[in-house]
Amino acid sequence: MPKSIIAGIGMYVPENIVTNNDLTKYMDTSDEWIQERTGIKERRYAHRTNETTTTMAVEASKIAIERAGITAQDVDFIVFATLSPDYYFPGCGVLLQRAMKMKEIGALDVRNQCSGFVYALSVADQFIKTGMYKNILVVGAEKHSFGLDFSTRGRNVSVIFGDGAGAVVLQSTEDNNRGILSTHLHSDGESAEILAMYNPGTHANYWANKNYATFNDAEISDMFMSHAMIDNAQNFPFMDGPHVFKKAIVKFPEVIKEALEKNNFSSKDISVLIPHQANLRIAQFVQQKLELKDEQVYNNIQHYGNTTAASVPIALCEAWEKGKIKQGDLVCLAAFGSGFTWASALLKW
Ligand code: ACO
Repeated sequence: MPKSIIAGIGMYVPENIVTNNDLTKYMDTSDEWIQERTGIKERRYAHRTNETTTTMAVEASKIAIERAGITAQDVDFIVFATLSPDYYFPGCGVLLQRAMKMKEIGALDVRNQCSGFVYALSVADQFIKTGMYKNILVVGAEKHSFGLDFSTRGRNVSVIFGDGAGAVVLQSTEDNNRGILSTHLHSDGESAEILAMYNPGTHANYWANKNYATFNDAEISDMFMSHAMIDNAQNFPFMDGPHVFKKAIVKFPEVIKEALEKNNFSSKDISVLIPHQANLRIAQFVQQKLELKDEQVYNNIQHYGNTTAASVPIALCEAWEKGKIKQGDLVCLAAFGSGFTWASALLKW
């Protein structure tokens, strides 16, 4: 059976650096609060009009494709993970196909938020293993800066997120000593409303007993995008941070251990763990729980914030560019986020 290797990897982050101090111009926050709670020092924001989730994905993809030694014409399939698409529909996959002048290949969008890239990688891996495709472009990209509440009301969410894109070319190989060993996907919809953006959506008050976005009849007649919704800031993401934190620190180690046990490894065998860059405190907790040394974990949230579906490929790309990942290394990717969904992938580089 063919296996999948990461044949090329690329990343793109916008030029515009936004420091914690820059945010204090818009909301009541401080560099000290943000660094202490999240580890974030700065993030990048895309150009308001000239950059989109897809344009950033194009830049990351060009690098991944070139490093894989192929051309855009050789790509057989696209899997695109994002929660901040250019349009509500169609998804970013087709926009990427168009922008890169690819053949009329299949393009699939994945809606799994923070674990979106690991889910996308797993989907692509199955297509390679069955022999259906040889080169799949797997992308995670986000333009969060366009949809955050920059007033003090939204500070618990808006300080965390940043923009960027990462991409890999997943390629078929017959080399049994390399490639993706296994992927592990999970979800628990019980807490779907704990970290969510409810609108625009078709829910009206259907989930009102569970969620935080309820409307009166007059407002509902205005659905699915109403003035009331905007007045009540219900067009912005909602997050119960402490709830997310508690679940993340359980599920991250669990799904990493699952991948290790499946392949008869222990945490000592990990060369590099790339955790989704949710929050430095979560990553540090996971490191401690798995008894990993500093050099076994790569974090870069300090400079990019949480880029959701883009965070794993951006961190993977940066770690590889810095020479921290070499051929033969055991690399573990892991993510947890909205849904809740969580996932891991274990690979021999
Ligand atoms: N600046 C200053 N004060 C703030 C800010 C801010 N940006 N945000 C919230 N506060 C205040 C709150 O208003 C509150 O004030 P109060 O005590 O007067 O009411 C106080 O700080 C504490 O608020 P909490 O929400 O309880 O803060 P907490 O200590 O839990 O930290 C945080 C918030 C950082 C979000 C934390 O809950 C966390 O790390 N959660 C994990 C969630 C996460 O990492 N999400 C990332 C996205 S999801 C993902 O990728 C998995």
